[in-house]
Amino acid sequence: MSNYHIKNLEEYFQVYRKSIRNPEGFWEEVAEEHFMWHKKWDRVLDWDFTKPEVKWFEGAKLNITENCIDRHLRIRGDKTAILFEPNDPKEEAQHISYAQLSERVNKFANVLKAQGVKKGDRVCIYLPMIPELAVSVLACARIGAIHSVVFAGFSSTALATRINDCDCKMVITSDGSYRGAKTIDLKGIVDEALEQCEGVETVLIAKRIHSDIEMKSGRDQWLEPLLDEASADCEPEIMDAEDPLFILYTSGSTGKPKGMVHTTAGYMVYTAYTFKNVFQYREEDVYWCTADIGWITGHSYIVYGPLANGATTVMFEGVPSYPDFGRFWEIVEKHKINQFYTAPTAIRALAKQGTELIENHDLSSLKVLGSVGEPINEEAWHWYNDNIGHKNSPIVDTWWQTETGGIMITPIPYVTPTKPTYATLPFPGIQPALMDENGKEIKGNQADGRLCIKFPWPSMARTIWGNHQRYKDTYFSAFENMYFTGDGALRDEVGYYRITGRVDDVIIVSGHNLGTAPIEDAVNEHPAVAESAIVGFPHDVKGNALYGYVILKNFGETRNQDNLRKEINQMITEQIGPIAKLDKIQFTQGLPKTRSGKIMRRILRKIASKDTSNLGDTSTLLNPEVVQDIIDNAL
Ligand code: WT7
Repeated sequence: MSNYHIKNLEEYFQVYRKSIRNPEGFWEEVAEEHFMWHKKWDRVLDWDFTKPEVKWFEGAKLNITENCIDRHLRIRGDKTAILFEPNDPKEEAQHISYAQLSERVNKFANVLKAQGVKKGDRVCIYLPMIPELAVSVLACARIGAIHSVVFAGFSSTALATRINDCDCKMVITSDGSYRGAKTIDLKGIVDEALEQCEGVETVLIAKRIHSDIEMKSGRDQWLEPLLDEASADCEPEIMDAEDPLFILYTSGSTGKPKGMVHTTAGYMVYTAYTFKNVFQYREEDVYWCTADIGWITGHSYIVYGPLANGATTVMFEGVPSYPDFGRFWEIVEKHKINQFYTAPTAIRALAKQGTELIENHDLSSLKVLGSVGEPINEEAWHWYNDNIGHKNSPIVDTWWQTETGGIMITPIPYVTPTKPTYATLPFPGIQPALMDENGKEIKGNQADGRLCIKFPWPSMARTIWGNHQRYKDTYFSAFENMYFTGDGALRDEVGYYRITGRVDDVIIVSGHNLGTAPIEDAVNEHPAVAESAIVGFPHDVKGNALYGYVILKNFGETRNQDNLRKEINQMITEQIGPIAKLDKIQFTQGLPKTRSGKIMRRILRKIASKDTSNLGDTSTLLNPEVVQDIIDNAL
């Protein structure tokens, strides 16, 4: 029990030092004491960052759903596991107990089996935030199938790419979804995607909006009647520690998304242990993370981490603005939320609404406030601290990534003194390093560099599905023997970390990780477009917004430019989804390029940010004359 729940700063430093001095011993102790194993490991860790290869708890046998469900049944069978808050506040919330969750997951798992899904098969889940989403994720894990959840805001093209990349044989979706006042035809999007996916044999459809949909015979099946007939007993598949648990796609510096592969034992141990400490979760607490399960935050801190701790985890179907901007605070009051975890973009959007919609709600249940997904600016931090936390709920600014599986740098609430905009200190077991441009580690405090991690941790992604070379090139080649995060960071005089933002071609818009390359590919699909370059620029709500520089095949294009802009954004919506739309589109005759033909994005970023005072040396450009032209016509 000793190390599982860190209670004060002195203990944090003790635990941290121990975790660095003897990582194997440290993680072994956590794994021994808090989980259910069919067989314990032969070896705690085996690693080589040059291959790269990382194995945790090799030889161990387990099933993660026994840890997230079965073992709680005896002691907290009637406790609410999942608290579902629907989109419409007039629809009743659902309290799904651990016993009920067990029954639903087992039934679902039996349906999957009856449909021919076997251990190792890939199942794509394209569902809104309804209980079936969490249940289907766990049902896959129960039988050893690898789930690949695709966020239900992605377009049919993006869905098809992800289904095909990992050869899913089944898709689980719903007849539609609610999003504020809108309904979305999810099944229609799936039908469109599947025109390009030959490997999908079965589509299971949950009923949510009761819309009349077309059923393709031999392929599509309503979920409900199958569940009704299924047995509520399903023996868990016994998995090896390093068997894949899921694939989750994230964007990168080429058009193709990267299917990050997470494995079973290490992921379970790390997400459970971080959940307990980062949120200081206690048995009676009600915890709410506002993310979607379509992102890693939802996988690790709505589903697996909380359930592994026997927690009550809230799933919210709706949006912060429906029926009005007071919805979050209404939910906090209604369910007496103790830990609330959201993104800076939501905080900034809510802060714009003033405080009236907060004042009529009782937020006194809150004990911990979390932030994730992008750097939280000072203003948003203070607004959150003052108006939501009333200065007595610590903010945990948690830095991590899809690739890291769990929270890496974060304060521990009531333990680590917080500092606005700082993610503060590494979690036990995490060894950050700041690197300079020459690949040398910058030691000591008051440093600024590229953020790397020097030593493996249990929940790191093991590979990119079907492309281990890309995994190596992306994360292990920039710096020798280090995992490179793609972020820049600084370390202050006491050793606190502040993440300053991406140093690669990824732009974070409203907390969504977007690669410039896939967006450029989408823009270039427009028949009138010759070439494009996408950069980010600061935006007061979204953090960053997207600015596109577009070269038309025919610069004198007679079409109305605003129509062309709409068409380009339509193209992006179709290829990726509305989250990647461009805020500004500037038509230009050229793009600044180096002599080797690389676009100088640094210059374009500065122009988009209206910061043209110091563009640096442009004389080495192939075409320095375009720079002034772009400045003159900037939007
Ligand atoms: C990137 C990862 C991890 C869950 C959601 C995003 C940025 C994430 C923070 C933070 C500053 C942050 C980084 C990171 N990021 N959290 N607390 N402070 N930046 O997962 O989509 O894989 O994106 O989000 O740039 O690399 P993701």
